[in-house]
Amino acid sequence: MTRPPLRRRWLKPLMLGAALLAAMTWLTLPASSQPQQPPSTAAPAGLLEFTADERAQIVAHGPWPPVVRPDASNRVATQATAVQWGVSLFFDARLSGNGKLACASCHQSARAFQDGLPTAVGRLNGRRNTPSLLDSAQARWLGWGGSHDSLWAASLTPLLDDGEMHQTLTSLGERLRNTPELAQGYQAAFGQALPSDDATLAVDVAKALAAYQSTLVSTRTPFDDFRDALSRGDAQAAVSYPLAAQRGLRLFIGEGRCTVCHAGPRFSNGEFADISVPFFVPGGVDSGRYSGLQQLLRSNYNRLGKFNDAGGKDPSAVGTRHVILEPRHFGEFRVPGLRHLSETAPYMHNGSLARIEDVVQHYSDLNEDRLHADGERILRPLHLSPHQAADLAAFLRSL
Ligand code: HEC
Ligand code: HEC
Repeated sequence: MTRPPLRRRWLKPLMLGAALLAAMTWLTLPASSQPQQPPSTAAPAGLLEFTADERAQIVAHGPWPPVVRPDASNRVATQATAVQWGVSLFFDARLSGNGKLACASCHQSARAFQDGLPTAVGRLNGRRNTPSLLDSAQARWLGWGGSHDSLWAASLTPLLDDGEMHQTLTSLGERLRNTPELAQGYQAAFGQALPSDDATLAVDVAKALAAYQSTLVSTRTPFDDFRDALSRGDAQAAVSYPLAAQRGLRLFIGEGRCTVCHAGPRFSNGEFADISVPFFVPGGVDSGRYSGLQQLLRSNYNRLGKFNDAGGKDPSAVGTRHVILEPRHFGEFRVPGLRHLSETAPYMHNGSLARIEDVVQHYSDLNEDRLHADGERILRPLHLSPHQAADLAAFLRSL
């Protein structure tokens, strides 16, 4: 009913041979006599042809640095004298109970203001990874569980934490009053004598620390140059961004759906999610956003409290007023920003992933069963090929 098998047997090699011959001839022909590609407005070699939609998504990850509204809850947020005192406090171990620990012991300036350890020694019984403080003035919630709603409140907690600087309001007040250099520092920064109330004094110390930390803005990256080049239509400049990073970027904004959470110039929507990083810790669980929210809502130092310098006029207080503790918060952690990633290993709230490649693998093999039933349906295992995984890692390294 079909052609004789004999004929088929010789037809195939012949066709193959002809095709091969044609290909070889084509390869050896001078470029000018090769068949011409249809004329196009296509991107030059070295630049992927991004669609208008893709371009809009890429441009939304800038500009960098962004304009940041000063924190209204901190009256010295932008005052040079407070920044100056804040720097010296940040590196001053005299702020700790035993005189041995400074903020900079864990938030090390040479390591993008983190410590390179999986979890910090002491803090929260060693459950959490020390976050970088770069760009933290742009974070709406502070800490992996969002237990703070301002940079100054997040700076007060370590001073009073038993696992950290181990002070009480009283002992910290005494330390400041009895150390002439610190007392003079306060007067220079705030232009007034030390307040008699220990809590007010401690909050002011934290506000000076916050003023300094809000100056820690990360530098521009190869991604930013690419993003700016695309947004002004400068293909010439855009081609210097490696192709692997461009392919990884396309995955990031497309198939990977990473931008759903890692959005905007900082690559974080500032909120919380469960991406199935196990949250068991010795002797229990780290409930993340759930306990973070409980802590935030009962704190005297949140934006709704009396230490907010803008009183009822703080535009950021609305977030704290309307947030509601819900069961789904259990096991959610803050979406981290992704800038300068290569300087902030290891990764995740518990420092459980050592390299960028391990994070990519996590999303590639994602364990869906471990995600909350009512949680994120955005995520699914990506099953990336080795090439795609390398591209995504190349993109993440360019941030
Ligand atoms: C023992 C190590 C250690 C010390 C000392 C320390 N921190 Fe931290 N810091 C951490 C860890 C761990 C976290 C994460 C806490 C969490 O998830 O709630 C953190 C979180 C923060 C955050 C929130 C950052 C963010 O992006 O969410 C700020 C701000 C901060 N620390 C400032 C300070 C200041 C200011 C000092 C000194 C007064 C200080 N830290 C001392 C380990 C430390
Ligand atoms: C549903 C929201 C969501 C999506 C989608 C998402 N992430 Fe994440 N990402 C998070 C959260 C939350 C964490 C922190 C989890 C933790 O510590 O337990 C995180 C952590 C990370 C980290 C570690 C950063 C650090 O400093 O520790 C990287 C890198 C990362 N994500 C990249 C990606 C990439 C690449 C994609 C797309 C393939 C992606 N994310 C998709 C929410 C998301």
